Amino acid sequence: MSGNIIYVKDVSVKLKDQIVLDSIGFEVESPSLIVVVGPNGAGKTTLLKTLLGIIKPFRGDVRVLGLNPFKDGVKVRRLVGYVPQKDRVSHETPLKVGDVVLMGILLRKKLLRFISEEDIEAAMKALAYLDMEDKWDSLFSELSGGQQRKVLIARALASDPMLLLLDEVFAGLDLESQRKLLSLLEMLKNKKRTIIVVEHELDPIINIADKILVLNRSICLYGEPHDVLSEDKLKPIYPCLRTIEKEGRRIVILGDMHA
Ligand SMILES: Nc1ncnc2c1ncn2[C@@H]1O[C@H](COP(=O)(O)OP(=O)(O)O)[C@@H](O)[C@H]1O
Ligand SMILES: [Mg+2]
Repeated sequence: MSGNIIYVKDVSVKLKDQIVLDSIGFEVESPSLIVVVGPNGAGKTTLLKTLLGIIKPFRGDVRVLGLNPFKDGVKVRRLVGYVPQKDRVSHETPLKVGDVVLMGILLRKKLLRFISEEDIEAAMKALAYLDMEDKWDSLFSELSGGQQRKVLIARALASDPMLLLLDEVFAGLDLESQRKLLSLLEMLKNKKRTIIVVEHELDPIINIADKILVLNRSICLYGEPHDVLSEDKLKPIYPCLRTIEKEGRRIVILGDMHA
């Protein structure tokens, strides 16, 4: 067993009798930024939920921050920041934006479940990172989809977790917000935080990635961008792959799995 922040060995997951993750194994050093890509249905969301102890594999070994998420799930979920692909904030309860972010902080406290001045400050700061501090008193349900995503990112960031898991957060954001989020993730990396970003496409996150993990039920490729980003290696997984020039850079568009 290594001292890495994530350790996954020979893990297989079944959902409704279908094998969704097949014998996967990888390790993540801290700090680093890992991008997980793969076609729809590849098991990306399942992988994040497995790391959080929400889904239990039928085989294999998982350690997150040195803990076993299936024994210490509550602890792992308290220590890890997570932005799910589908938000679970109830739209019936009229929650204000500030409350949504504060909830993220409260859930991570062990015992003292009351709100302190520092909590409010941390929540404000997290919202400010995403230019959303002026929405503190707005109703969460009345925000646009992109704004709601930003509040949920702020909720995950507010308690300053060592490990952050983001499930397809870029797609729903406008270009300016994408740029903001990129520099925010870069700042977190400089603060020695580890970030796992699940995305459908590599652009724009590829520019700050340390490693890419290509998943399609099993791990197809895992390595540094210069190693993984070769057409020869990616074409068998993404037959529709093409490269374009954008602002003088060569960008790989993975496209869909099937032509
Ligand atoms: N709750 C569930 N019950 C049964 N099958 C599921 C469930 N969630 C996901 N799946 C199936 O598991 C596979 C992987 O899903 P998912 O992890 O969401 O993929 P991705 O996030 O890469 O699109 C898909 O075939 C999906 O249909
Ligand atoms: Mg998904």
